[in-house]
Amino acid sequence: MVVLDGPRVRLRPLTPTDLEAVFAWYNDPEIVAPYDRFSTDTFESFRASVAAADGDPGSLAPRFVVATRTPEAVVGVVGHYRAHPVLEYTDVWYVLGRREARGKGLGKEAVGLLVEHLFATGSLERVGATCDVENLPSVRLLEGLGFRREGTLRSALFHHGRWHDVHVYGLTRSERTPPPA
Ligand SMILES: CC(C)(COP(=O)(O)OP(=O)(O)OC[C@H]1O[C@@H](n2cnc3c(N)ncnc32)[C@H](O)[C@@H]1OP(=O)(O)O)[C@@H](O)C(=O)NCCC(=O)NCCS
Repeated sequence: MVVLDGPRVRLRPLTPTDLEAVFAWYNDPEIVAPYDRFSTDTFESFRASVAAADGDPGSLAPRFVVATRTPEAVVGVVGHYRAHPVLEYTDVWYVLGRREARGKGLGKEAVGLLVEHLFATGSLERVGATCDVENLPSVRLLEGLGFRREGTLRSALFHHGRWHDVHVYGLTRSERTPPPA
């Protein structure tokens, strides 16, 4: 089992007991998708997608829960997926489902752990992410981790009744700052 520890945050695979809480977040568009499109799912297909994610680089299912270390409390989920059928990069995504956990640096630490894990365990040269241009916490999280804004896709995402522009971010292996050995 892969467990990734930072100073305040632990990433670990989802267990069966995490599924209901995470699924409840998935049913609240203002938690999982305040700046994103929202789609519903059944609990059974959600459970099946989590179970199948390991063998599927393109899976959008959550790969790790984000837990605080002391006391241990599950506050969010993160994932990664092969984002393009031809180009060779992986995008990361992240949600802190517990709203009271936001704005304390936990999201940035969690995504930093995930990104470092992807570089350390694979041969990837680039990790990417996209976010709605209005999603300031996400923009600042990515830029704080050293991601560079590579462009902006206009009218690329429909949610909350209108089209939104989306920033494209990337971090290359040579730009990353690995943790001290
Ligand atoms: C995006 C998200 C994961 C960020 O996690 P977080 O723990 O709240 O963010 P952090 O506390 O680590 O802060 C990251 C940066 O955003 C800034 N930030 C956090 N909340 C902010 C807010 N409400 N407004 C403006 N900036 C904010 C922080 O100051 C920090 O920037 P800094 O390093 O320059 O100071 C979280 O807000 C979330 O779950 N949002 C809903 C789901 C979502 O939008 N996911 C991303 C889709 S692209």
